[in-house]
Amino acid sequence: MTSTDLAAAFAHAFGAPPSSAGPVHVVRAPGRVNLIGEHIDYCGLPVFPMALRQSVRIAFQPRSERETRLVNRDSRFAPSAFVMSESIPPAPAGDWGNYARAAARALAERFPDLRGVDALVDSDLPIAAGLSSSSALVVAMALALMHANGVTVPSLELMELLGRGERYVGTAGGGMDQAIILGARAGCASRIDFHPLRLTPTAVPADWQFLVAWSLVPAEKSGAARQAYNERTHECDEARRLVAMRLGQRDDITYPALLAAASVEQLLELAGARATLSGVLSRRFRHVVTEGTRVRQAEAAMAAQDLAAFGQLLDASHQSLRDDYEVSHPELDRLVELAREAGAAGARLTGAGFGGSIVGLCRAERAPEVRDALRDRFYAPRGAAGDVERYLFRAEPSAGAEVLTPGASPG
Ligand code: GLA
Repeated sequence: MTSTDLAAAFAHAFGAPPSSAGPVHVVRAPGRVNLIGEHIDYCGLPVFPMALRQSVRIAFQPRSERETRLVNRDSRFAPSAFVMSESIPPAPAGDWGNYARAAARALAERFPDLRGVDALVDSDLPIAAGLSSSSALVVAMALALMHANGVTVPSLELMELLGRGERYVGTAGGGMDQAIILGARAGCASRIDFHPLRLTPTAVPADWQFLVAWSLVPAEKSGAARQAYNERTHECDEARRLVAMRLGQRDDITYPALLAAASVEQLLELAGARATLSGVLSRRFRHVVTEGTRVRQAEAAMAAQDLAAFGQLLDASHQSLRDDYEVSHPELDRLVELAREAGAAGARLTGAGFGGSIVGLCRAERAPEVRDALRDRFYAPRGAAGDVERYLFRAEPSAGAEVLTPGASPG
């Protein structure tokens, strides 16, 4: 659907607005695929994602009141409304409108007098697929509210504000998603460093192709997966504290500082000792520390256009997430295995896991073979071959979120 079509659909959803409300604008916020650096952003360690072509788009118009009204083009999501304030009460857990509320509440901290918008939400991003459709909604909503109110926040600050703001929904997430959704550069993956936040792009080689394949298992950000996610963040923190104490460091030292204070080998030896960590904490710690190393190596492999090396790092990351971090799922493992058998240089689960998608890398000319194999060997036996392009697609490194030129005036 073009921006003009979306603006027309807006008129249909909300009726012709008063002419004083001005033109309908459209904001676009892409989904993301994390290439490597999984479950370490909340440890303050660098990650390496890129933005997708698929996005959440919102057609919006300012209102004179403080109420925001939301309509979703996907009829599974009922209309929702809230009044702008610093203490917007959440809708019941799992309600899609909470992501819009999260954006509004975060902005209200800085701008207490914001007025609301009418917003029509449209998305071609698969939902609960580990591709950040929810953070894309948060970012799109924030940009719509800012634009409608004529306020701005410097980009890095906005990434941090919305990263914290999304915790409103109850997930103790890191800051990767909001940062890449706002800061991605077309044609590039970006290393994201935290504290201080910084994005460093690397061009994706023209003959590399990243494929995303959904496992058909929803990775819901609410419910059991959220609990397991939050549990991992606590385990990492506890492991860090205990290793730091054994090393004679302050117990509030960060992961990056810990890695500066001792070599990876030393840290792993210490963490492997029963006197330091339990079996579970030791495995969680090993994932974090080795995944951090893989991010640097992967960034260098991409810069050197070394596809085989990047592929091996993807494989090692998956193994670590499956065995040490225990966030995989048998359907994700199966997809990874099939992608490799079909000629991918490497593959891994992407996003929080527990379902969701994998990302695989291959030379562009091999991509059709890999796709065909996944269609025939994964999707067809599960009765999903008909819709395969919705589940299995090329990840095109795209630009970050933006307000597009005004759509047509409705009415
Ligand atoms: C979710 C969170 C991110 C990150 C990933 C795992 O997508 O929103 O901050 O922690 O999981 O890497």
